[in-house]
Amino acid sequence: MIQLEKPVAIAADHGGFALKEAVKEHLDQLGVTYHDFGTLDGASCDYPQMALPACNAVVNGECSVALLFCGTGVGISMAANKVRGIRACCCSDTFSAEFTRRHNNANALCMGGRVVGAGLGCALVDAFLNAEFEGERHQRRVDMLKEIEDAQASL
Ligand code: RB5
Repeated sequence: MIQLEKPVAIAADHGGFALKEAVKEHLDQLGVTYHDFGTLDGASCDYPQMALPACNAVVNGECSVALLFCGTGVGISMAANKVRGIRACCCSDTFSAEFTRRHNNANALCMGGRVVGAGLGCALVDAFLNAEFEGERHQRRVDMLKEIEDAQASL
C-alpha cells in the first residue's frame, strides 16, 4: 500500500453509509488514516452536501484523496466533479479504479453501496490507493481538463 502523507477524506449519504463503515474498518486494518465527513448514521441526507466538505479537504490540501459513497456512487460523483480541482470517478471494477489514478490522476473514488458489496468496495479502494499517476501524455490530458474547468469558471 502506498504511504499517503495525508489522511483520506471519506463521506457518504445514507445509501453509502454501510459501505463507508466497511471501508473504514478496512482502512483501520491497513493503518491508513482518514477524516470522516459523515454521514454518521443511516438517516436520509443529501449526497451533494456530504460530498462538498470532503472534496474541499482534498483541494485545500488537508486530505490526499476522497473516498465517496452513495446508493449508486453516481450522484456523489456528479457532486464531487462540480468542485474545482476534483477529478472523481465512479467505479465498480478494479481495473477502472486503478487506471483512473494511473491515467486520469483521479483524486476521488466514488462507489455505490447498493451496487458493490463490502469485499469489492475494499478491493476498489486498494486498487485506487495503490496506483500512481503515470504523467507524460496523461498529464497533457489532465491539463486539458483543468483548461475546461478554468474556461467555464471565467464565463
Ligand atoms: C438516495 O436514495 C440515492 O438517490 C443516492 O444515494 C444516490 O444513489 C444518488 O445518486
